[in-house]
Amino acid sequence: MGQRIAIISAVHEELAEILQLMPDEQKRVAGGRTFWSGHLQGHEVVAVLSGIGKVAAATTATVLCERFEPQQVIFTGVAGGLALGVEVGDIVVGSAFMQHDLDASPLFPRWEVPGYGASRFKADMALAQVLHAAARDAVTWLPKLLDEAVLRGLGLHAPSVHQGEIVTGDRFVATAAECAALRASLPEALAVDMESAAVAQVCHDYGVPFAAVRTISDRADDEAHVDFQHFLQQVARHYSGRIVRKALNLL
Ligand code: ADE
Repeated sequence: MGQRIAIISAVHEELAEILQLMPDEQKRVAGGRTFWSGHLQGHEVVAVLSGIGKVAAATTATVLCERFEPQQVIFTGVAGGLALGVEVGDIVVGSAFMQHDLDASPLFPRWEVPGYGASRFKADMALAQVLHAAARDAVTWLPKLLDEAVLRGLGLHAPSVHQGEIVTGDRFVATAAECAALRASLPEALAVDMESAAVAQVCHDYGVPFAAVRTISDRADDEAHVDFQHFLQQVARHYSGRIVRKALNLL
């Protein structure tokens, strides 16, 4: 208690339910982003949409840290499933984040972030554990909330929760070939998104604990764009809303 917790999502569908739950919200625009401040589950919360991609996410995280000084940052949204067994409707809690499209070789090893001597930024493990518990609650609850037809349409069966590496890049991965190539070069990666590692790097710079939770909207394959749209419109907000509410209860 007494801590300001920041919630970031890339797009409105991922944050919609959380914003609805913040009745005493105050809006402030900074750096071209709208920051909603209010209270949720007894916590002081600031919520913001980053937009899509690493630069948008990094500027958002920077303005957030500079102007709002959160004590913890949570990213909630969707991602493409990369590893075998990470299916649509599953949830991935990030334990480490890296940029799969960063390559300053031969000056630096492939994937290393120049100046940091490392290619990965770790999640705050205590925060990640809270997100994991919240995600476990969400996967048991979601099938009860959604229509049978919606579940079948999305191919959701018995979703599970994974914890591991999330990779980020300025690409929407939407072919089976690119997905297989990523899997082959980064076998530890569970999921791919376009923001998490950028926010992780900024939070590292500011010394702010960071964790991310991503629901799998697609398998980053040839159907990814269709699955992504359906998932975003029909499911993403419910998952994010449930996970964040539960996580705030546990904090
Ligand atoms: N976010 C959700 N699905 C994605 C994909 N296939 N590639 C990158 N980011 C994503």
